[in-house]
Amino acid sequence: MCKGPIFELDRVCFDYPHGGQLFKGLELKIMSGEKIVLLGPNGSGKSTLLKLLCGLVLPSAGTLRAFGTEITEQRLEDNRFAREYHQRVGFIFQNSEVQLFTTRVWDEIAFGPLQMGLDLETVRERVEDVMRLLGIAHLQDHSPYRLSGGEKKKVALASVLILNPEVLILDEPTNGLDPKTQRWLVDLLLALNHQGRTIITATHHLELAHVISERALVLSEGHNLVYDGPTAQVLQNRELLMEVNLIDAYYHVHDQERHVHYYIHG
Ligand SMILES: Nc1ncnc2c1ncn2[C@@H]1O[C@H](COP(=O)(O)OP(=O)(O)OP(=O)(O)O)[C@@H](O)[C@H]1O
Ligand SMILES: [Mg+2]
Repeated sequence: MCKGPIFELDRVCFDYPHGGQLFKGLELKIMSGEKIVLLGPNGSGKSTLLKLLCGLVLPSAGTLRAFGTEITEQRLEDNRFAREYHQRVGFIFQNSEVQLFTTRVWDEIAFGPLQMGLDLETVRERVEDVMRLLGIAHLQDHSPYRLSGGEKKKVALASVLILNPEVLILDEPTNGLDPKTQRWLVDLLLALNHQGRTIITATHHLELAHVISERALVLSEGHNLVYDGPTAQVLQNRELLMEVNLIDAYYHVHDQERHVHYYIHG
């Protein structure tokens, strides 16, 4: 497992075709074993930043290095490099639908290890283990498209966890999960982090942030990084959270007194 910096972003900008520019010169370093939360309001660029880290999109300016190597279009076009990269950096999409592409849950989960060239017996064992871990063994012959939202998320998670990635990048992973499954997922992420995995989670659920991270990155509505530091500290910074629209203040009067309530977006 990598010991040094996992990701190093140097003056990174990103342009969507026909869209505005995101991250004007983003500087960021993420070390192995960190537990990071990415916060920001809708449209601030959380998913885009995660896609950059996963090598699904590339910076339009600046450089992205991962495990000490610059990630370029040329490198990602090399199938061996791309496969190894996607094995080391696992990504759970915000929308599980786009992650699932086979017609059977078992095939979906086995796809990655089969691509890696593992023998069928080993793959069978691994699929069984990960399905048991996620409590989805009974769904193995189902079509991923006919599952509930939470079940789809679990299949997507299984297909990533089976590759045992060093880095887990999760985009709003608890969305669509019931409270018990959310708790279970958080515990799983913490256990994986304890074993040395780097965990990066995007969410706008502030209640989740302090549980799943020590370091927080906050993106503004203008798509820039406006905070990089301890999670505990940013959660107490009401002014910043208001400014980036992560909490709302709601003033009202009762008993002749003016009150302010803070609403956390969720
Ligand atoms: N494929 C695309 N083409 C053009 N613009 C895009 C595309 N995807 C996202 N954007 C724009 O980029 C910005 C950042 O989007 P992104 O999905 O990264 O935000 P987010 O922080 O993940 O939002 P949310 O909390 O709603 O998931 C938004 O202004 C969005 O409209
Ligand atoms: Mg998003």
